[in-house]
Amino acid sequence: MAEEKVGFVTMGQAGAAADVETIGVGMLGYAFMGTAHSNAYKTLPYMAFPPPYVPELVSIAGRNEEAVAKAASRFGFEAYVTDWRELVRDERVQLFDNSGPNNLHAKPSIAAAEAGKHVICEKPLGRNAEEAYETWRRVEAAGVKHLCAFNYRFVPAVRLARQMLEAGELGEIFHFRARYLQEWIVDPDFPMVWRLSAAEAGSGALGDLGAHVIDLARYLVGDIDSVSALTRTFIEEREGQKVDVDDAFEAAVTFGDGAVGTIEASRFCPGRKNSLTFEINGSKGSLAFDLERLNELQVHLAGSSPGDSAQGFRNVLVTEADHPFWDWWWPHGHIIGWEHTFVHELEHLLRAIRDDTDVAPHGATFEDGYRCAEVCDAILRSAESGGRMEVSYRD
Ligand SMILES: NC(=O)c1ccc[n+]([C@@H]2O[C@H](COP(=O)([O-])OP(=O)(O)OC[C@H]3O[C@@H](n4cnc5c(N)ncnc54)[C@H](O)[C@@H]3O)[C@@H](O)[C@H]2O)c1
Repeated sequence: MAEEKVGFVTMGQAGAAADVETIGVGMLGYAFMGTAHSNAYKTLPYMAFPPPYVPELVSIAGRNEEAVAKAASRFGFEAYVTDWRELVRDERVQLFDNSGPNNLHAKPSIAAAEAGKHVICEKPLGRNAEEAYETWRRVEAAGVKHLCAFNYRFVPAVRLARQMLEAGELGEIFHFRARYLQEWIVDPDFPMVWRLSAAEAGSGALGDLGAHVIDLARYLVGDIDSVSALTRTFIEEREGQKVDVDDAFEAAVTFGDGAVGTIEASRFCPGRKNSLTFEINGSKGSLAFDLERLNELQVHLAGSSPGDSAQGFRNVLVTEADHPFWDWWWPHGHIIGWEHTFVHELEHLLRAIRDDTDVAPHGATFEDGYRCAEVCDAILRSAESGGRMEVSYRD
């Protein structure tokens, strides 16, 4: 069914036109991520031109009929349903977009893949490594394309960092240091939302924010093979219910190739809105990135010339025509935003579907989602035991 196409659309722009096949999209969830993904499906056909497919927004699922009907109308979905199983049964749906909460990642993603649909699932892939493993293996066995939505791989500056690391421009890597900080639950009166419940979320800041950091560590430096960590829950009860996930974690990690690092995430950092930063130090230089300045990459290349007496970090505005993804956007210096990472991510997945190419290495597959979950589990085991934990990965 995933191969069956529902039609062609003629796309045009000055000096170019293309007949592009459509791909039917069924989406679970219509809030934060549902909005970000819908925005990207609508933008990519005319900006990432010519697109691999023109997304056809077939149907969207939510629990509340009135709310999901409004979302369908707002985003331009042809239909809405109140049970995600109807998306799985819908033959017009060729790509299943799982933008639901963490407890709805495994079952619907597996069911959609086993019905022959390609799947994009938001991170974290599972609430723990066992659930993520089962999801990866079963979706992989179904023979469809799968992508775990680690969208920060699709920031142009992050892709440039990866290109520089792959080219050996930083030499031997010594350190990866990253943190993801937000502030939104410092108030003890903040309500008991699904992100604060282990049954629904799996873990707290760890799976929500830490998963992004772990994925970037893996994407840029390599697999993590041991962790020494602690977690903290600062406010243990909200609205009379127990908060049974971490509010923050801190971890010292080792990588397979000898590098060491620190990673942390917290939602208790007043003043930090969406602060994802990393720094990588190698024998030939260093890179630093800050999501709140996502068009920029800080680069220090030791001994670069001219300028012997003015060594140090320089600020590279990653907006040149030959920078990653930039041929789709604006003249240099006309910066892009967070929402465009989803355009890049979905274009990548649609191209892999059209050309039958691998989603890896630049897209995170469900295997990457599983490997990230192993690191998350090891962090929780380490925090519980107080000892360093080896991370082992299953095939
Ligand atoms: N990649 C990123 O940068 C990023 C950012 C935020 C969230 N996320 C991930 O995206 C996922 C969704 O997070 P969010 O912030 O959009 O959450 P949210 O709470 O804003 O939205 C969740 C959506 O799922 C719907 N939903 C819940 N139960 C459902 C059910 N039984 N059937 C159908 N729909 C149901 C809700 O109505 C809502 O529309 C999470 O896994 C989260 O970790 C990723």
